[in-house]
Amino acid sequence: MRILHTSTLWSSLGDWLMGAVVPHCGTTTAQSSEHNRRSRDSSHGTADVLGPNVVCSIFGCRKGNMSLCIQKNVKEPPLLLLEFSMPTSVLLKEMSSESLQILLQCVRPPVAAGQMSQSIFSEPVWSMCCNGAEVGVAVKREASRADQKLLRLIRKVSVGLVVIPGKTGTSKDEDTICMRAIYERVVNSADSESYHMISPQDGPRQELSLFLLRS
Ligand SMILES: *[C@@H]1O[C@H](CO)[C@@H](O)[C@H](O)[C@H]1NC(C)=O
Repeated sequence: MRILHTSTLWSSLGDWLMGAVVPHCGTTTAQSSEHNRRSRDSSHGTADVLGPNVVCSIFGCRKGNMSLCIQKNVKEPPLLLLEFSMPTSVLLKEMSSESLQILLQCVRPPVAAGQMSQSIFSEPVWSMCCNGAEVGVAVKREASRADQKLLRLIRKVSVGLVVIPGKTGTSKDEDTICMRAIYERVVNSADSESYHMISPQDGPRQELSLFLLRS
């Protein structure tokens, strides 16, 4: 496994991630504590099992599609694993911009009277927008053996850009790229959550937010 220090595609992201391995704590700001309190106070969905900060990994084979994995921490199995229909090359290009907002939306299934609605993490299919443009769908899946292997490999990296060469190691197309960071989780309701990447204080501002919205 190699940790990339520079990247032509993700130049700003790559530079920012250089040396950007930061501990979980010490990165929260005054504003985050406000969010943290809100997350903690929320009794919706999975809020009670999840802390205010989670680990999100966006990864995929260079010639394939990217996936999103949300974990409570680097040691835990995925809480949510979604595969985007968007090719890795296209998403990487979007990520090289200073600010990326990924909006995932789905329709709330009807809930019988007196029943709690299912966790937002249980929804199988989401439509996906990147910075306001429709780009396809995100589909929930179980962790495959390959996913589990990847998560084991990168267990020590809580923040970073990781490149894992393919089997033959000759073609870059076979590389798996993984961008992992700590995200602040904000729970607005049982149908709306957002995740905001926490940038290390000494790096340039790189904004990446994910929104999950059920309506
Ligand atoms: C990527 O997603 C598209 C749309 O869902 C699909 O047609 C294609 O087969 C996927 N590519 C890979 C390598 O899984």
